[in-house]
Amino acid sequence: MNTNFSDTIHYIGVDDTDLDLFESQYVVPEGVSYNSYLILDEKTALMDTVDARCMEEWIDKLDTALGDRHLDYLVISHLEPDHSGSILKLLAHHPDVTLVGNAKTFAMLPQFFDVPNTATITVKEGDTLALGAHTLTFYMASMVHWPEVMVTYESSEKILFTADGFGKFGALSQTADEDWACEARRYYFNIVGKYGGPVQALLKKAAKLDIQTICPLHGPILTENLDYYIGLYDTWSSYKPENKGVLIAYASIHGNTGKAAEKLADIIRAKGEEKVIVSDLAREDMAEVIEDAFRYDRMILAAASYDAGVFPCMLEFLHHLQSKAYQNRTVGILENGSWAPTAAKTMKSVLETLKNVTIVEPTVTIKTTLKEENMVVLEELAEAIVNAGQ
Ligand code: FEO
Repeated sequence: MNTNFSDTIHYIGVDDTDLDLFESQYVVPEGVSYNSYLILDEKTALMDTVDARCMEEWIDKLDTALGDRHLDYLVISHLEPDHSGSILKLLAHHPDVTLVGNAKTFAMLPQFFDVPNTATITVKEGDTLALGAHTLTFYMASMVHWPEVMVTYESSEKILFTADGFGKFGALSQTADEDWACEARRYYFNIVGKYGGPVQALLKKAAKLDIQTICPLHGPILTENLDYYIGLYDTWSSYKPENKGVLIAYASIHGNTGKAAEKLADIIRAKGEEKVIVSDLAREDMAEVIEDAFRYDRMILAAASYDAGVFPCMLEFLHHLQSKAYQNRTVGILENGSWAPTAAKTMKSVLETLKNVTIVEPTVTIKTTLKEENMVVLEELAEAIVNAGQ
């Protein structure tokens, strides 16, 4: 990826390619980047640090880019350790740097570090910081993804530094030709997805700015087709489906519920539905299935009964959907129960807590294996879910 987007703003981020789990929960097969930017003007400003895992490589990049210049400011957009983890390292190298954050930043900062006596500037909505030819304007973006998050607009080059917003999994060195939306969508729904309202508020502020470049704290710098990225963020944060399609997410113990889910998918496809995805919740990346649940307008949950409830990976999936504010979708249900089916009741009890989720009838119950006698009701569920998309 081209990180030379400006003569005076240097990309000094780092790739983390051997991280097992981002935030101890998300697989990142292509790694992740922790972005950081250095603005060289009459004053110099650093836009965020990086995860402590990569601090040595990063501080070398910073000092190379800085040369013999003095570092004047560190702008702290977000305190999560993937961005703040090298602040103490920075202060050791540049003890007289001035920290720039908002009131929430400085209220939370001591929770993370025993910060030495350091100069600070506390900014609020719309405040500016002149660097010379460059001027930074700060906009609060609380809960995109933490309360202290703020974004920064640089007006001479029309750049918006967006913190986690518009971020994407994938180290820059590994994903130069990769489609942006897939891993940006997985990142968004799993990390920021609960906070659609705050993202909408930020998009409204951004709409008033003339933006030519978006500099996030993860993933590529966005320099063209910005309407495309902003449009996707608008769709995602307003909980609207991005595409028509049916996700069938199943939780199967011995494979029989999985076979029923695959059969249901075949029937739905035979009715002309173009996009039908079948996902095994016990084995596939849960974050990827969450992404698909939000991406498509309809979903079918198929699960085995278990301990008078539902098989645990389905319960885990439902709890993720609940915590990420899944809403505005149509859902069908298939349960399996060899002697006392309880999966449907348990799944419905969670679905009923979600905003504007319609459960289509009929609910399908199979006993251990799919039988010929189940085919009529399976056909009816397929018909109902196809009709719900029209
Ligand atoms: Fe990339 Fe919320 O930290």
